[in-house]
Amino acid sequence: MFYQVYVRSFADANTDGVGDLRGVRDRLGYLSLLGIDALWLTPFYRSPMADHGYDVADPRDVDPIFGNLDDLDELIRAAHQEGLRVTIDLIPNHTSDRHPWFMAAGSAPPGSAERERYFFRPGRGPDGAMPPNNWLSVFGGPAWSRLPDGEWYLHLFAPQQPDLNWSHPDVVADFEQTMQFWLDRGVDGFRLDVAHGMAKPADLPDMAEPQAPGVLKHADHEADPRFDNDGVHDLHRMIRRVADKYADRVLTGEAWVVDDDRLARYVRPDELHLAFNFRLLEADWNAEMFVEAITHSLNAMSSVDAPPTWVLSNHDMDRHVTRYGGGELGTRRARAAALVQLALPGVAYVYNGDELGLPNVELPDEALQDPVWERSDHADRGRDGERVPLPWNGAEPPYGFTEGPGTWLPMPADWGGLAVEAQLDDPDSMLSLYRNALEIRREHPAMSGDEVQWFGAPTGCLAFRRTGGLVCALNAADELVPMPPGEVVLSSGPLEDGMLPPDTAAWLV
Ligand code: GLC
Repeated sequence: MFYQVYVRSFADANTDGVGDLRGVRDRLGYLSLLGIDALWLTPFYRSPMADHGYDVADPRDVDPIFGNLDDLDELIRAAHQEGLRVTIDLIPNHTSDRHPWFMAAGSAPPGSAERERYFFRPGRGPDGAMPPNNWLSVFGGPAWSRLPDGEWYLHLFAPQQPDLNWSHPDVVADFEQTMQFWLDRGVDGFRLDVAHGMAKPADLPDMAEPQAPGVLKHADHEADPRFDNDGVHDLHRMIRRVADKYADRVLTGEAWVVDDDRLARYVRPDELHLAFNFRLLEADWNAEMFVEAITHSLNAMSSVDAPPTWVLSNHDMDRHVTRYGGGELGTRRARAAALVQLALPGVAYVYNGDELGLPNVELPDEALQDPVWERSDHADRGRDGERVPLPWNGAEPPYGFTEGPGTWLPMPADWGGLAVEAQLDDPDSMLSLYRNALEIRREHPAMSGDEVQWFGAPTGCLAFRRTGGLVCALNAADELVPMPPGEVVLSSGPLEDGMLPPDTAAWLV
C-alpha cells in the first residue's frame, strides 16, 4: 500500500508556503495511523521548477525549497523507524534546460559533442525554419524549440525539459550513478517518470497523425513513435540490474501504453516490478468500464506474473471526487470506488488527499502555475486543481498546512470539514473509511490470494470474490440492489434493509 506524497502540497515546515521534506517527516505519525506501507515522494531535486520539479538540474541534490540532504536522510531514518518504506521519483527521459549538460550544449556549436547527449537537429524547409519532424509536445505546441544558432532540440514536455539521448553512454552512466546515490542513502525504490519514453527511433520519423496535445494519454506505439519503443526495455533491464545490487528495492514505472500486452513487457521478470494501471483511473463512473479496466489489467499482469498496481488519482489527473461528479455525489462515489480499489489483489497507490476526499479546486487564472496552461494557449487549465495543499486542522486557510502567511496555490475557504483533524474522530468520514479499509486489507485473511472471480451482478453493478473469500460489491446504478450473501465487514455508506443503495460498495465475508 503506497501513499503518493506530492511534496509541494503535503506539509510545510519552513513557513514559505511550499511543502518540504521536514513537513513530511513531521507528519509520519499520521501516515502510520492511516495504515500504509510505503511512500512515493514526488521530485525534490534541484530544479528551476518549470514543471514543479520534473525539470531536474541536479538529480543528486535536494532543492533548497524542499530542504537539504540531511532532511532527506532524517526522513528516511524516521520513516524506517515507523516501519514505512520510502520510494522516490526518478526522471530519466529529460533534464532541466538548466542542467550543466544542457547549458554546455547550448553554448557549444551545432555538431559538437556536447549536443550529442540530447536531440539536436537541423530544421526542415527553407533556412531550416520548420521543426525537424511533426511531433507535438505533450504539454501543447511543437516538441521542438530552436536555438539562436538555428538548430532545434527535442522536448516531449516543456521547452525547459530537453529529452536525453539514451544512446549516449554518459546518459546511461550518469543515471546509474544517480540510482546508486539514492539507494546508498537508504531509499527503498523508485517511481520512474515517463518510463515509456527514453528510447527514440533512430530516424525520428513523423507521427502518422499528430495526437492532440493533452497531458499523458495512452500512447499507441503503432501510430506514435515518441513513446513505447522496443529499445526502452534494454534500458529497464539496466535499471533493474542496478536495483538488484541492493536487497528489497522496488521499481514502479509510469508507462502510458494502450496495449495490455505492451504494458506487460515493462514488468517482465528482468525489468520493472510494477507499472501503474491507468485504465481504472480513466474509467467513468460505470460498472462495466470498471470491470473491463480491472480485467484487462489483471490479464496483462498475470501473463508476466507481476502484481497489478491500482490508482484512482495522482498529481496529473483530476481528482476522482471531481471526475465522478463532484459534491456529495462525487464523494459518495469516491467512497465506493475506494472500496473497489482497495479490495483488489496487488498493489494500490493512494494520492495524498484521496483519503480526505479532496475534490479538484477551481483556481482563478492568476493562480495557475502548471506549464500546460501557457503551452496550451489557455485552452487547458492544467493540473494545479489537483495539487492544492492539504488541510490539516482549523477552520480557515491555510488549515495548518503552513505557519507562514500564504500557500503556493490558494486553498478554498470551505475545506475546514475536510481537514485531517475534523475527520480523525468522525467514524463516518472518508479518512475513517480509508483507515478501516486499510486495516482490513492488511489484516483480514479473506483478503489473501491473487485471483479475482466475477459474480453475475445486476446491470450497472459489479461483484467479485478474492481467493481468500472477501466479496466486494459495487452498485453504480440508480436502484437499490440485493446484496451478495455474506456478512458485511465494511460499506462505503449506509445499507437499506439489507439492500445495496446506488453509488455504494460493500465488503462481505
Ligand atoms: C510525468 C509526471 C508529470 C510530469 C511529466 C514530465 O508524467 O507525472 O507530472 O509533468 O512526467 O516529467
